[in-house]
Amino acid sequence: MAAHNANGSANHNGNNSAHKNGVSKNGTATAYINCKNIVRAYTVGDHEIVALRGIDFTMTRGEMVAIVGPSGAGKSSLLNLLGGLDTPTAGRLTVGDFNLIDLKGHKLADYRLTQVGFVWQQVGRNLLPHRSARRNVMLPMMLAGTGWRVRRRRANELLDAVGMSDHAHKRPTQLSGGQQQRVAIAVALANHPQLLLADEPTGALDHQSAIQVLKLIADLRERYGLTILMVTHDMEMAAFADRTLTLRDGALGQDLTHSTQEAPPVLDPEGRIQLPAAVRSHLDEAARIAVEIRPEGILLRPEHDAEEDTDAVLQDILPHKNGHKPRRRGLRRFLRNGQPKQEETRS
Ligand SMILES: Nc1ncnc2c1ncn2[C@@H]1O[C@H](COP(=O)(O)OP(=O)(O)OP(=O)(O)O)[C@@H](O)[C@H]1O
Ligand SMILES: [Mg+2]
Repeated sequence: MAAHNANGSANHNGNNSAHKNGVSKNGTATAYINCKNIVRAYTVGDHEIVALRGIDFTMTRGEMVAIVGPSGAGKSSLLNLLGGLDTPTAGRLTVGDFNLIDLKGHKLADYRLTQVGFVWQQVGRNLLPHRSARRNVMLPMMLAGTGWRVRRRRANELLDAVGMSDHAHKRPTQLSGGQQQRVAIAVALANHPQLLLADEPTGALDHQSAIQVLKLIADLRERYGLTILMVTHDMEMAAFADRTLTLRDGALGQDLTHSTQEAPPVLDPEGRIQLPAAVRSHLDEAARIAVEIRPEGILLRPEHDAEEDTDAVLQDILPHKNGHKPRRRGLRRFLRNGQPKQEETRS
C-alpha cells in the first residue's frame, strides 16, 4: 500500500474544462503535472519523518483537483514540492516543461515567480501588511521585472476580476478575511501563472465567505485556463473540484463518493454494497477479495494466487525504510528461507 495510483475522472460539478484543455490531437489526455513515486523524508535529529511515501499522480491542464486528509498527512509537503519551494528526497516530478528535480538557482526562482501562484490558509502569509491591495498585487510583477504601467494595468484588471476594485487603496488590516483572500488570489495570479496551488485557502473563513472564495476560484479557472490543486479539509469545498484525492500517512487515494456517474455507495439490509466502477475494475480479475478492518476504514484487496497474497500481506506488515516497498525478490528469498537478506550474508 506504499503507492496508490490516484488518477481518475470523477467530475461532480459538471465542468469539463480539464478535458477541453488537456486533450492531445489523438484524443488522449496529456499530463501537465506528473508525480512519479515521490518520496519526501525530513531528518529531525537522528530520526526520519517520511511525509510522502511514493506519491503517483497526474493532472491534465485546466483540471481542478482537491486534496483532503488529516493533519500531518503530507498535504502541504506535496504542495511545496509542486511549487518549487522544496525538493523531493526521491522520485520524478514535472510540471509542464519544467523538471522540478533538476531545476536550480535562477531557473527555479523564475519558475516560482512566473509559473505558479500560491494562496495560503494564513491570511497574513499572503499579503504584506504595509502595502495597499493594489501594491501587493503589483509586487510579484516588480520582482519579475515588469514595467510600472503594465504592473498597474494588470493589478487593476485582477482586482476587478476578484471584485476588489473599490478596495484597491486599502491595506490588509482594513479588509475582512474573505476580502484579503480575494486580494491574495489576485497576487497569486499577477505573473500569469498556469498553476494555482491553494493550501486551505478558506480554512480561516466563515462558511459564506468560503463559498464565495471557492466560486471566485472556479470563475478564474475558466477565465484564465488555470490548473488548480487545492488542499482543504472541507468536502463542500472539495466538491468544486473535478476530482478529490485523499492523502493519509503520506499515501494518496482517490475519493469516489461524489462521482456524477453513479449514486454514492450504500449498504443494503442484506449487507450488499454497490461499488463504484473504478473500484470494480481493480477487483474483477481477482480470484478472491480479502477484506481487512483498518484504523482508517475497510480495505478490499484483490487476491490472485498464493505467492502474490503473501507478498501483499508482507508488504503491508514489514517496516518500509524511507517509505519504499521492499523488493519482491528479497521478499521471495525471505519467504523461502524465513530470514531477511542481511541475515543470510552475515551467517
Ligand atoms: N520542515 C519539516 N521538518 C520536519 N518535519 C516536517 C517538516 N515539514 C513537515 N514535516 C512533517 O511531515 C509530516 C507532514 O507534514 P505536512 O505539513 O505536509 O502535513 P499537512 O497534511 O499539511 O498537515 P496540516 O493539515 O496540519 O497542515 C508531518 O509529520 C510533519 O510534522
Ligand atoms: Mg498543511
